Amino acid sequence: MATNPKEQEQRATGCPMKQAPHGGPVVLDREDPRFLAGAHEAYTHLRELGPVVRAHFGRGLTDDLEAPGTPPGGERFFVTRYDEAVETLLDGRVSSDFRTGMTPEQRGRLAYMPEELKPLAYSMLMLDPPDHTRLRKLVQPSFTARAMETLRPRIQRIVDQRLDEVEREAAARGEAVSERRMDLIRAFAYPVPITVISDMLGIPDEDRAQVHTWAEGLLSEDGPKEMNEQRRAVLRTFNGYLTGLFERKRRTPGEDMISQMLVVQEEGDRLSEQEMVSMVFILFFAGHVTTVNLIGNGVVALLTHPEQLARLRADPALAKGAVEETLRYAGPVDYMSTPRIVREDMEIAGCPIARGEKLTVGLASANRDPRHFANPDAFDITRPDAHRNIAFGKGIHVCIGAPLARLEGQLAFETLFRRYPDLRLAVPVESLHLGTSSLRGYTQVPVLF
Ligand code: HEM
Repeated sequence: MATNPKEQEQRATGCPMKQAPHGGPVVLDREDPRFLAGAHEAYTHLRELGPVVRAHFGRGLTDDLEAPGTPPGGERFFVTRYDEAVETLLDGRVSSDFRTGMTPEQRGRLAYMPEELKPLAYSMLMLDPPDHTRLRKLVQPSFTARAMETLRPRIQRIVDQRLDEVEREAAARGEAVSERRMDLIRAFAYPVPITVISDMLGIPDEDRAQVHTWAEGLLSEDGPKEMNEQRRAVLRTFNGYLTGLFERKRRTPGEDMISQMLVVQEEGDRLSEQEMVSMVFILFFAGHVTTVNLIGNGVVALLTHPEQLARLRADPALAKGAVEETLRYAGPVDYMSTPRIVREDMEIAGCPIARGEKLTVGLASANRDPRHFANPDAFDITRPDAHRNIAFGKGIHVCIGAPLARLEGQLAFETLFRRYPDLRLAVPVESLHLGTSSLRGYTQVPVLF
């Protein structure tokens, strides 16, 4: 029974959205340190409220890119179920460009956007066609299945070298085999993808320690979540560094992606200097912050589901299934796609969504929708349809690095469990702490091996 006028109106249009019991939007407080731990319970409830619900989010890093005057973390539609999530991400009326729907006056004010925020605002992730298509095409060849096969031995080498180093450090501390300790995140899950993407982009070895320090500064969980002055200063330095690096590579190009993009830039007007900075920026960050959590979340899920781990050990080819199931069960991009803006009046599952409304798609919620995945809260690496997860999104913005992340995840799982038959958590799983960013991942995972 509809209980208030808004619900009655929605029922009349065939919209199955129920109001939260208090009548207002559901609050998803991403700044609450317990948010991620309880998120799946919240999503179960939200999916029951409807395929799309009104939600209010706490403040996030990209709030500074909203239209001037928009309250941070404002209310928006949240798509909770699998079919509607896919449909929404494929719908051309849904824009990824935060400038969509802005008044000319608001757009005018954006001209004064601080220089250091532009790489965030003008990456392909936040653009619509035709700019999005033009930019994506330029880097797509580096992420094909063929390119991945060429990369495989390089990634395997990076994984092996990292573990050799971890073993040397443990030996230097006098730890016996199978009683050796490491923080899986800091010692392995973080350095592997950052090294891979730094290699691909061509960030010189001698600059990496500095670049990694900037990256950590930007992503640090200490202090306020918003883009404060300290973060802006790091962004300015990083942008300046990239411009200098482009200059160096113009003089002495290599085989790397940055050198290739510079050639394209020089051959025509297909890529501006600003777009170059944005491109390297997004590839560098998206290329490591997420994959670290794929590795961390997968290892924790396997170590806490011994029957699944036993299957993987018996058949290492199941590493592929372990990656897909980790993406579905504990995907790194948890509660949402990047924000979207509706460019014309539309409906989702019969619910009217007016032009200019904002929405996000609950990727993690969709991946546990029981209408799509049987027994969705179970972790099962042999699940036949796990690969239908939408942890990488869907549609034109589907993750360009998905083949790379999948390969890194497989090689990480295969190698870790092959080299360390005794790999186990060094602390009770309840004591592991999920961070507070929009990414689902553990801050530390102490293991014995
Ligand atoms: C497990 C690891 C990863 C996950 C879960 C992930 C997730 C995602 C998701 C959900 C999107 C779409 C966001 C949206 O539609 O709002 C996306 C886009 C993107 N990802 Fe990933 N990603 C991962 C790894 C990577 C890697 C390794 C790279 C690059 C080397 C990368 C580069 C990108 C880029 C450039 C986009 C924007 C694509 C576009 O707008 O067309 N990602 N990723």
